[in-house]
Amino acid sequence: MGCITNLEIYAKENKVPIIQKEGLNFLIKYIKENNVKNILEIGSAIGYSSINMALASDDIQVTTIEKNEKMYNETIKNVKDFNLENRVNVIYGDALDTTIQGKYDLIFIDAAKAQYIKFFEKYKQNLQTNGAIITDNLNFHGLANHPEEIHSKNLKALVRKINNYKDFLIKNKEFHTIFYELGDGIAVSKYNKMD
Ligand SMILES: C[S@@+](CC[C@H](N)C(=O)[O-])C[C@H]1O[C@@H](n2cnc3c(N)ncnc32)[C@H](O)[C@@H]1O
Repeated sequence: MGCITNLEIYAKENKVPIIQKEGLNFLIKYIKENNVKNILEIGSAIGYSSINMALASDDIQVTTIEKNEKMYNETIKNVKDFNLENRVNVIYGDALDTTIQGKYDLIFIDAAKAQYIKFFEKYKQNLQTNGAIITDNLNFHGLANHPEEIHSKNLKALVRKINNYKDFLIKNKEFHTIFYELGDGIAVSKYNKMD
């Protein structure tokens, strides 16, 4: 039987970025309060968040996409250890080239930060009308609000992209987004109600 603490230890030892505890608690609370049953995740890493989300309730189904082969294999192994093969569907591939059918109550975007707008635009068609797209890492370890403290060119470009994404959400007329200063910065975006 799998053990959540062992996943956390593995992630730490192997420097695999996984959702912070505070962010995860927020996600689980959201899932329970909103009666979420179908979840699509972009970016599985070792399956930590997908396994935790599936464990929130016995009737939850998760589909998660991972493009890194090693990470994908690790997720497959961990999902098996938790006996969740019937409820966590792991897809190997680049989420930007993958076609997913069906509608989800929740889409959790937690993959390459530079591509967040593309993921959002591509996968909004898979969102139920009353569902939510949740994005993690919007503070990027506190750096997004303090770009002057960054010296590396690549990092600066990445932070610019994260801030562009935030801007995209703020100005988006189709969706209403609430930003939470929790974990590494979380956004919850829902379709604006058309009256
Ligand atoms: C932050 S980690 C995911 C952490 C995981 N959601 C968790 O909290 O346990 C991001 C993962 O997204 C994957 N990734 C990045 N770009 C991707 C893409 N275009 N399609 C699928 N996976 C991607 C990376 O290989 C990495 O494993």
